[in-house]
Amino acid sequence: MASTAAISQLRRYFLQEQELGVSELVLGRKPVIANPGRNGALARYQKQISGCTKCPLSKTRTNFVFGDGDPRADMVFVGEAPGHEEDLQGKPFVGAAGQLLTKIIEAIKLDRSQVYICNILKCRPPGNRNPEPREIELCEPYLIRQLELIKPKVICALGTFAAQTLLKSATPISKLRGQVHYYHDIKLVPTFHPAALLRNPAWKRQTWEDVQLVRKIYDQERADG
Ligand code: URA
Ligand code: URA
Repeated sequence: MASTAAISQLRRYFLQEQELGVSELVLGRKPVIANPGRNGALARYQKQISGCTKCPLSKTRTNFVFGDGDPRADMVFVGEAPGHEEDLQGKPFVGAAGQLLTKIIEAIKLDRSQVYICNILKCRPPGNRNPEPREIELCEPYLIRQLELIKPKVICALGTFAAQTLLKSATPISKLRGQVHYYHDIKLVPTFHPAALLRNPAWKRQTWEDVQLVRKIYDQERADG
C-alpha cells in the first residue's frame, strides 16, 4: 500500500514531467500514461468510418460493427462478419458463436477485455450469407488500419474468410489451421470459426490445440518485449 504522502509526491512529479512536455510514461513495454493522440486513435478511427456507405450492406445494417476489446491488446481475433445479434448490438461475437469464442478465450486463461475482437466485414450480410469478394475488397482497408493501430503480437484468424483474406490464400482452413503464418511481421494462427464448431463439435479439439499455440506465441512475444 502506498502512503498518501508518497502518492502526492508522485503526483507532483508527474505534473512536473507533463509541464516539461513528457507525454508518455513507459513502464514495461507499452506506455501506461499514453499520449492521448495515440491512445484515442482507434476510437477516432471508429468515429471516422462508422458512417461508411461504400457498399450496399450499409443500407441493410442496423449497426456498423467496428470491433471490441483493448485497443492496445497483444492478441487479436478476426472473424468473418456480424450476424443478427452483432448487427443489433453493434458488437462483434455476442451471439451463439460469440459465447463459444468467449469460452475459447477463457480456455487460454484470458478475458475478452484483454484481447481485441473484430471482423473482416463491419456490416452484416443479409441472412448471414457469405461475404462477397467486392465487399471484402471495400471493407478490408478498415481492418488493415485497425491492425496498424493496435499492433498486436499475435493474430488468430477465425474461419475461412478471415484466414484466406489476411493470408491472401485460397487454401482451405483445414489445411491452414494449426500452423504459424505471418500477416506482415505479425504471427498469425488460423483456426476453425466458432460457428463451424457449433455445427461440427468434433473440430473442437483441434481448435483448442490451435488456441494453445496462439497463447504460447503471445507469452513468447511478450517475454521478448
Ligand atoms: N461470426 C463472425 O464471424 N463474427 C461475429 O461477429 C459474429 C459471428
Ligand atoms: N467454414 C468456415 O467458414 N469456417 C470454418 O472454420 C470451417 C468451415
